[in-house]
Amino acid sequence: MKRFLAVAVAVASIGFLTAGTASAVDSYNNGDAASGIASSRHNLGGFSMHIGAQGTTEVCVFCHTPHHTNTANNLRPMWNRGTSAPTSFTAYGTTIAGTTIANTDIGSTSLACLSCHDGVTTFDNIVNAPGKSGVTSGGADRGYTFIDFGTVVSDFMTSSRLNIGLNLSNDHPVSVAYNAGTAAGLRATNTVISAIDLTSDLNTSATTYDNGNMTKNLWAVKGFVSDTATIADLLRSSKVECSSCHDPHFNNKSWQEIDSTYSNVTADQEGESNGLFIRRVGGNTGSGVCRTCHEK
Ligand code: HEC
Ligand code: HEC
Ligand code: HEC
Ligand code: HEC
Repeated sequence: MKRFLAVAVAVASIGFLTAGTASAVDSYNNGDAASGIASSRHNLGGFSMHIGAQGTTEVCVFCHTPHHTNTANNLRPMWNRGTSAPTSFTAYGTTIAGTTIANTDIGSTSLACLSCHDGVTTFDNIVNAPGKSGVTSGGADRGYTFIDFGTVVSDFMTSSRLNIGLNLSNDHPVSVAYNAGTAAGLRATNTVISAIDLTSDLNTSATTYDNGNMTKNLWAVKGFVSDTATIADLLRSSKVECSSCHDPHFNNKSWQEIDSTYSNVTADQEGESNGLFIRRVGGNTGSGVCRTCHEK
């Protein structure tokens, strides 16, 4: 279970936080489920509080199906969507340390995320439609109408902020090997994440800020907030993919700097934050996401 805590107003040394933000932030503890997808913007079914299809009330079907899954390009897990091929993307290229990511390297879980965030594939491009509506291998647009706060909206990613696109050369490298100890100040893969000291080189207010999440450095892995997770748990086939930093099911309400910039009543696509589905409790406060892998 998660507790709902008010943001302390006593963090006087971090100015912008005290500037009248009456937001509240959740706290997650070791063992809590990384849950909340139904109320998040990743629920594209008819019961969604955000963008939702008129054609079905199912939640998981927009990404998973129990049968007839799309395994092209090694897509996983139990993937129910059509995707752009790896060669449709422009990969990061070569890093400062000399690690090269070719277009053909774009891996399974990144392809999975990009099957909506590529700005091209429709949200209702699915393989196994709900119920007896049939299977189309490789996926097909189902012609659903999507509604957001009563208004018909587009069935593909239009928000420029959320459209990662086909060009991945301007994003943090994905499908990149994790070369611990030899590139980019990367920590050993067996590092226990919660044991990483992120606070001793910061102002002491960081230890009380955001429920002390900077000190705890808890990340959700395998569906649960964990104090024993290692960096290896963030990697997929020993590489960094989109899902190294994001859990698409985790409606992470613990990143107050993000939550305070949203309203949950605004009738637009920016209406509510899901903590950007970040795996880390406390989000990227103090660049905790970045400093977990990079010893900088
Ligand atoms: C927006 C797309 C999306 C939706 C909707 C979605 N998933 Fe997932 N799911 C993914 C992706 C991507 C992964 C792989 C994540 C990773 O690499 O950790 C995944 C992984 C999983 C896993 C294995 C890893 C884990 O985190 O436990 C389970 C179990 C799972 N999903 C269950 C569900 C169920 C049940 C639903 C519906 C309630 C659902 N998912 C809805 C995208 C989605
Ligand atoms: C089935 C389509 C679909 C898939 C697959 C999908 N997303 Fe999304 N995602 C959406 C939609 C729709 C939104 C909200 C769009 C809007 O409001 O304009 C969204 C929003 C987001 C947001 C913003 C949340 C916030 O708090 O503002 C993030 C971050 C995100 N997705 C990351 C991911 C990642 C990472 C993956 C893969 C692990 C993924 N998505 C897979 C459809 C998808
Ligand atoms: C190395 C960690 C990492 C990886 C890998 C990563 N992200 Fe993110 N992503 C973040 C962080 C941190 C943020 C929040 C950035 C901010 O403060 O605006 C974010 C934000 C986002 C957003 C919201 C954009 C915004 O500025 O509001 C989307 C959408 C998203 N990521 C999708 C993806 C997709 C799709 C992939 C894979 C192609 C991916 N991410 C890979 C860390 C990562
Ligand atoms: C899951 C681990 C992980 C996380 C979290 C992570 N990175 Fe990285 N980062 C990597 C890996 C792996 C590389 C590739 C290093 C190499 O081989 O050159 C990389 C490379 C980089 C590079 C160098 C790119 C180049 O061209 O040389 C920068 C800059 C960077 N990351 C910044 C960030 C920032 C900023 C964040 C937080 C938003 C972040 N990273 C979070 C793993 C991570």
